[in-house]
Amino acid sequence: MAEQLWKGRFSKAVDSRVNDFNSSIRFDQRMIAQDMRGSGVHAAMLAKQGIISEKDCEDILSGLASIADDLASGALEIDPNAEDVHTFVEQTLTARIGDAGKRLHTGRSRNDQVALDIRLTLRDYSHTLQAYIVELIKVICRKAAENTTAVMPGYTHLQRAQPITFGHALMAYASMLLRDLQRFEDATARMDAQCPLGSGALAGTTYPLDRQFTAEKLGFAAPCANSLDGVSDRDFCIELANAISICMMHLSRLSEEIILWCSWEFKFIELDDAFTTGSSIMPQKKNPDVTELIRGKTGRVYGDLNTLLVMMKGIPLAYNKDMQEDKEAIFDAVDTLELCLKTVTPMLDTMKTLPANMRRAAAKGFINATDCADYLTKKGMPFRDAYKLTGCMVSDCIAKDKTLEELTLDEFKGYSALFENDIYDAIDLIKCCEGRTSYGGPSEASVNNQIRLAMDQLAAWEANNA
Ligand code: ARG
Repeated sequence: MAEQLWKGRFSKAVDSRVNDFNSSIRFDQRMIAQDMRGSGVHAAMLAKQGIISEKDCEDILSGLASIADDLASGALEIDPNAEDVHTFVEQTLTARIGDAGKRLHTGRSRNDQVALDIRLTLRDYSHTLQAYIVELIKVICRKAAENTTAVMPGYTHLQRAQPITFGHALMAYASMLLRDLQRFEDATARMDAQCPLGSGALAGTTYPLDRQFTAEKLGFAAPCANSLDGVSDRDFCIELANAISICMMHLSRLSEEIILWCSWEFKFIELDDAFTTGSSIMPQKKNPDVTELIRGKTGRVYGDLNTLLVMMKGIPLAYNKDMQEDKEAIFDAVDTLELCLKTVTPMLDTMKTLPANMRRAAAKGFINATDCADYLTKKGMPFRDAYKLTGCMVSDCIAKDKTLEELTLDEFKGYSALFENDIYDAIDLIKCCEGRTSYGGPSEASVNNQIRLAMDQLAAWEANNA
């Protein structure tokens, strides 16, 4: 078993059950690159301030580099019995370079060290997730561009309501994901604002640290202003988990929609065979498992967010070991969203749209009833009267199993003398949709504009992240 860092104070070794219980190496080893990066900068600062010698600093930096090389080549494996990643790195370093390794932790605690490591790690993860979101939005925009004239029913209460296009529906999801992208950027900006390194265990240190130097070298805007907060702040985990949860909620809504769209009841789309699964007993089945899993995993991610919120709510200043629980929750949320984004993007990319079926569904359900009422209103009838009259017409049509456009002009005139031959144009589904030229609406020009705006935002993201 690896030796405890704090052995001197104790007369006995820790019980092996406590050792297992306490250990975080299983899940914090994924921060090892960030841990070593922080250590390198800390050592450079200690040397610059004359707290350790230049020679010690050189030994530490080359020792850290050799550890990184050996981990990459497989010559060194992470010891699963180490208490945590910080201990593992320090002990491995000391085994390699001797006393200089023991000087690395001068003016530092694992409390500010871990607070730094999580920030550095989540900053990288946030960037990876943003890149996946950008890819998904691009696929959505491309699919939307291919479907700007695919008229389908728009729904409220899952009842056919008014005509939209499939492109318009897809761009609603692009809008959600564009907000997600901003939320990730925003959460990351706050994560990058303040560097906790140099807070020490809780109360700073008597060594003349240069916290501005470490903050700047590690890509932070400034050192955190208060050392107690520096070691015990996990807002950035919660903010990222929140951004992830909202993004999962959007993917879950999209998934639910896809599940409906590919059912025999709708058949607006067909998923590629490679992104569906069969049944062990029902030979005809083609199931949208991917989307169901995304819907299911959304609950799991909400659980991660809740874990973090509840874990933090009763913690007095400053560091408490409860906070070690942050990593499994936030890493699970990150991994889950990444997995979902990686799978949903090619699934959407390969899905086939079936515009004829959308159009057929649009023809049923009186989704042009508002347009009929609007027609009368434009001819001078007050809207409320026009609304009522159209309601009666719909009711009669239902009784006769007809659509509005199947009524003869005489039948129309029987309801109101305002009806003329141009009513057929006014309630034509394609024209109804095309006529909805209001900003943000379903007309082809409007959806093309939505796609343009989305692509502009993506181009700005790419320029910022080049
Ligand atoms: N593994 C610990 C964590 O993740 C590192 C900090 C330990 N600090 C301490 N005072 N025991 O929170």
